Amino acid sequence: MTTDATKNRWVKNGSLGEGKLRFGADYNPEQWPREVWDEDVRLMREAGVNIVSLGIFSWALLEPRPGEWDFGWLDEVMDLLHAHGIDVDLATATASPPPWLAKNHPEILPVGVDGTVFWPGSRQHWRPTSPVFREHALRLTRTLAERYADHPALVAWHVSNELGCHNLYDYSDDAARAFRLWLAARYGTLDALNDAWGTAFWSQRYGAWDEILPPRIAPTLRNPGQRLDFERFSSDAVRDHLRAEAAVLHEATPDVPVTTNFMVAQNVRDIDYVSWAGDVDFVSNDHYLRPGPIGRDDLSFWANLTGNIAGGRPWFLMEHATSAVNWREVNPPKRPGELVRDALTHVAHGADAVCYFQWRQSRAGGERYHSGMLPHAGADSRVFRDVVALGQRLQEIAGITGALRERARVAVLFDYESWWVSGREGHPTEGLAYDVEALTWYRALLDAGVRADVIPASASFDGYEVVVAPMLHVVDEALRGRLAAVAESGRHLVTTYFSGVVDEYDRVWLGGYPGALREVLGIRVEEFVPLLAGSPAALASGAEATVWSERIVHVGDDVEVLDTYAGGDLDGAPAVTRRRLPGGGTATYVSADLGVAGAGGVLRALTAEAPALAADPLAADGRVEVISRVQGDTRHLFLANRTDEPVRAGDVELAPREVAVRTQPRH
Ligand code: GAL
Repeated sequence: MTTDATKNRWVKNGSLGEGKLRFGADYNPEQWPREVWDEDVRLMREAGVNIVSLGIFSWALLEPRPGEWDFGWLDEVMDLLHAHGIDVDLATATASPPPWLAKNHPEILPVGVDGTVFWPGSRQHWRPTSPVFREHALRLTRTLAERYADHPALVAWHVSNELGCHNLYDYSDDAARAFRLWLAARYGTLDALNDAWGTAFWSQRYGAWDEILPPRIAPTLRNPGQRLDFERFSSDAVRDHLRAEAAVLHEATPDVPVTTNFMVAQNVRDIDYVSWAGDVDFVSNDHYLRPGPIGRDDLSFWANLTGNIAGGRPWFLMEHATSAVNWREVNPPKRPGELVRDALTHVAHGADAVCYFQWRQSRAGGERYHSGMLPHAGADSRVFRDVVALGQRLQEIAGITGALRERARVAVLFDYESWWVSGREGHPTEGLAYDVEALTWYRALLDAGVRADVIPASASFDGYEVVVAPMLHVVDEALRGRLAAVAESGRHLVTTYFSGVVDEYDRVWLGGYPGALREVLGIRVEEFVPLLAGSPAALASGAEATVWSERIVHVGDDVEVLDTYAGGDLDGAPAVTRRRLPGGGTATYVSADLGVAGAGGVLRALTAEAPALAADPLAADGRVEVISRVQGDTRHLFLANRTDEPVRAGDVELAPREVAVRTQPRH
């Protein structure tokens, strides 16, 4: 499993942890006059800040002209922070190239799918595959690394910033060249590529490598295999940049751990962070709360996945927001209690650092309405008071530093490629949403009071009594075997509609759906029956599907029908099935989108066979999320009130949105 490769030197040598939870923010002093810096460090101390990420967008100041450096101000900030006991996660400052670089080398500018050039004037306007950009970025990285190698404030390196956030998909000629090399390495021969991509369709057969392009805008549907490989390539291309900067840093400062901030979150679909985990010394993540009632559970889902991408080891919450962001359609502030709740929910899922974007809310620039730890209103504000209270709280629970996630007995699988592929156009419906389906099953488990791990589909399933695989669309031969093994070894597999339908080239498994999983599920589906808006499909149990249903035409002798369609063309046909395998294992198939309540019904029906699905009494009928971190003989139990009402969990009285932490012996 890729995540086992995560070195996590942070924890191994204790250089960042040192028994304290890290608390801080992106710090952008270059946006402020010198006298403000003194107030900054004073207030940072008041809040308990012990780390900042520095220099993220400073390239134009550090290298004002090609090869001409100005480090004076950064030296001063580094010294000032150190003098106040604040450590630095120093950025390589390569996230946003300076105007002179784009002017002298417009060939670094990324190109959109339709040929649009992304000009300077914002940020991240560089091609991941540009040799010119790479050369300049690595020169800056090396210069910084050598200059600050021995600075006492330096505790970690922060490569670039949110790599691929705006420039992941680049369709330029540089990208075309790099894509061809990537494809040649993957397929070896054009015959193999033509076969994988099914290029006999629409006269797409390639006779030479240089005929292949990125999937640029085209008259109609583009080749699905080409698109999937371009998505993989793009994720790898940005990862290659991470590796290149990390190599420079490791060479210059072998003892300083290197990280970069991932974006494991619902609004970032396109980077396969599971594959990146081995390239950082510790995993860092940025997460921004989704507004509305779904936000808390959504945060828990992605924090849970981040913890498992980090292999269960502690990780670093590099960015979240104290209150509002400024990049959604409507950006409400956080409600009372949410600042602390969100931070502690991340900690519960394994974060040993709670950091924000950003320390001081900007006065100018595109993000001036984005909250910070220190808002426009100044220190006399609700947000800053909450920040100070949180800093205090983190000091009180610092004993959890280094504790690992305690493995659950139920796993929800997550797979980036299934996310990429399942929602494409050219499918039976454009209404499918992989992330919605995955979160639905996670929420059903939370409602049932069951602790579950969200794990990459490539992770080991060992030790999980129940494996839930929502819309696991892309299944290759190896994954097929691993999923079947769950049910064949006396455990329980639950999977849902549109799973197992295509192989790793996005080619359909033949013989009926759900293709790769047909055998273990003991059923055969002949047709998908997507639902038109306003025409839901009812099930006999009372559950209702609004997006998807299927015609299951064959059910094996060892398969029971747990629910049927009621009314409409599918009246009486199986909707939910369960195969019982020798050895006590089961394989459940849910052919429609049943929502949280419907999913809960399916899980309840399995509880007799799968004790792992029994409710934890501390979960107070699903109103509390129970999360656990362990270290030696100690368990740190987090009880997170999911509701806006007071809730009693065992002998703990939780205020609305409160997260309580109880430390107790493990056995
Ligand atoms: C992140 C980014 C930060 C800031 C923040 C605002 O994507 O890394 O620099 O832009 O979002 O939410």
